[in-house]
Amino acid sequence: RKPVRIAPSVLAADFAKLGEEVAAITAAGADYIHLDIMDGHFVPNISFGPAVTKSIRDYSDKPFDCHLMISPFDPFVEEFVDAGADIITLHQESGPHAHRSLQLVKSHGLKAGISLNPATPASTLEHVMDEVDLILVMSVNPGFGGQKFIASQLDKIRTLRSMIDASGRDIDLQVDGGINAETAPLVIEAGADLLVAGSAAFKGGPSQYAENINLLLGRA
Ligand code: DX5
Ligand code: ZN
Repeated sequence: RKPVRIAPSVLAADFAKLGEEVAAITAAGADYIHLDIMDGHFVPNISFGPAVTKSIRDYSDKPFDCHLMISPFDPFVEEFVDAGADIITLHQESGPHAHRSLQLVKSHGLKAGISLNPATPASTLEHVMDEVDLILVMSVNPGFGGQKFIASQLDKIRTLRSMIDASGRDIDLQVDGGINAETAPLVIEAGADLLVAGSAAFKGGPSQYAENINLLLGRA
């Protein structure tokens, strides 16, 4: 099993000093920087886009994990490549051509992820297991930080764990939404190896970030 890693979501950071926040969460032990891109169409909220992503790129040496909660997806891939993304994740539900979109991301030499909303079954990924580098299970309905963890997703995590093991491929199993000190052990036990945390990572301000991350990863 791969080591459990953390991808703090900057949606929960102080947008008035986003560069400093990205540097601080990196210094505190982030393995990835999770960027929640929201268009107000696929999800009922607007966050930020490629320009902001580009402006914070040099504030961290960690991979930029871009979670695109947008539809359509394909027209914006190149802008996120240019902004410095390392991983670009689309939503299975954001359009009819997930296979083509995954190919588009990989054609730029980036890692391709696919995310499932709580109502979307793991089985919808059966025919793209050879195309993905990351699978993102939403444990909240996308659009906002600070929501309650949806426990029904634990079964889906377990199912995806077996699908990934059966594929024999190096695929990250990422879980996103309501991850905190209580729910992190549950998703890890179910088979997740990459945790996204917004409010739990950024709570208490920069002096708390390292402690928050260690607690989420179950380190002393
Ligand atoms: C929700 C985003 C999540 C969210 C997580 O649409 O995809 O990444 O920011 O925030 P918390 O950890 O506070 O639930
Ligand atoms: Zn996210």
